[in-house]
Amino acid sequence: MTLNKSEVSWKSPSNIALIKYWGKKENQIALNPSISFTLKNCYTSTSISFIKSNNFQYEFKFHGNHKPEFIPKLDVFFLRIKKYLPSLSKLSLKINSFNSFPHSSGIASSASAFSSLALCLIEIESMFSNIINEDNFFEKASFISRLGSGSASRSIYGPLTCWGKTDLFTGSSDQYAIPINIKNNNFPTFCDSILIVDSGIKKVSSTLGHQLMDNHIFKNERISQSHLNSSKLKKSIESNDINLFLEVVENEALTLHALMMTSNPNFILFKPNTINIIEHVLKFRDETNTKICFTLDAGANVHLLYPKSSFQIVQDFIKKSLIVFCDEERFINDEVGLGPEKN
Ligand code: PMV
Repeated sequence: MTLNKSEVSWKSPSNIALIKYWGKKENQIALNPSISFTLKNCYTSTSISFIKSNNFQYEFKFHGNHKPEFIPKLDVFFLRIKKYLPSLSKLSLKINSFNSFPHSSGIASSASAFSSLALCLIEIESMFSNIINEDNFFEKASFISRLGSGSASRSIYGPLTCWGKTDLFTGSSDQYAIPINIKNNNFPTFCDSILIVDSGIKKVSSTLGHQLMDNHIFKNERISQSHLNSSKLKKSIESNDINLFLEVVENEALTLHALMMTSNPNFILFKPNTINIIEHVLKFRDETNTKICFTLDAGANVHLLYPKSSFQIVQDFIKKSLIVFCDEERFINDEVGLGPEKN
């Protein structure tokens, strides 16, 4: 086959889970369905140049530098995906990745990193074989992303995505994420302001965190709760019930951390300033009736979700009352976006 191209490039955003994925079974299958907003400004841009080779090999650079600490995770990923992308076995890849957001911000970057990498690999495979076609391109990209990082499977689509089998959404699957199309044109576009409380490296890797769900005393309750919360979230969007939406999102964030605090071994990822921010947000919501809520990843940083129409009032609030709790006064303004773009 003659190739007219030997480099591919994709830009893929991070996402923020509204219904949290926590705990997994064999082969990167989640214990429960998860739902997220895809972001816009926080993304990873990955390009891969490739040449034919007798065997598979790759070189990886992040912001132009070799990153030996990323290699073990990448090795596991390539081992997992090789049977699904057979053309890789005869290629040598040079991978270059860039994040739009600061690397040391404590923002999880595995979702944007693995989804942009998967999109590039799927495009390469589509040039050599007919396993990938126009109809299954994004489904396969989500499937491959999942094998790198579960949450990455959801970054393939925007603005709202579900990964995991649930009766709520036709076509939902444990193997890949699907875009959710809830018909309600009145539901506002949300912003996500990420308050950087701790820019350090994660104290507990999500791999270990997921494992601690295996024998968690609340495992079955968590699975039931995630299904119930998913249906409440769907209803809140369908019926434009923003208060219900805020309630479910906060319940999920606190549940995630409650699960960590009650696992064995346990761990606390909140910092005093995480709680300070949460308390101020609740007070601000009460006093101003602004539709705003907080959510958290597996870390100390706080995501504030609110409709775009409240952007200015929330910015003023952050600068007046919250910035003192942020590491070096850092926060990042993002908003819900439409998903990856080919460069
Ligand atoms: O994709 P992972 O393995 O890094 O796990 C992500 C887990 C959470 O961010 C805490 C929740 C989620 O659904 O994104």
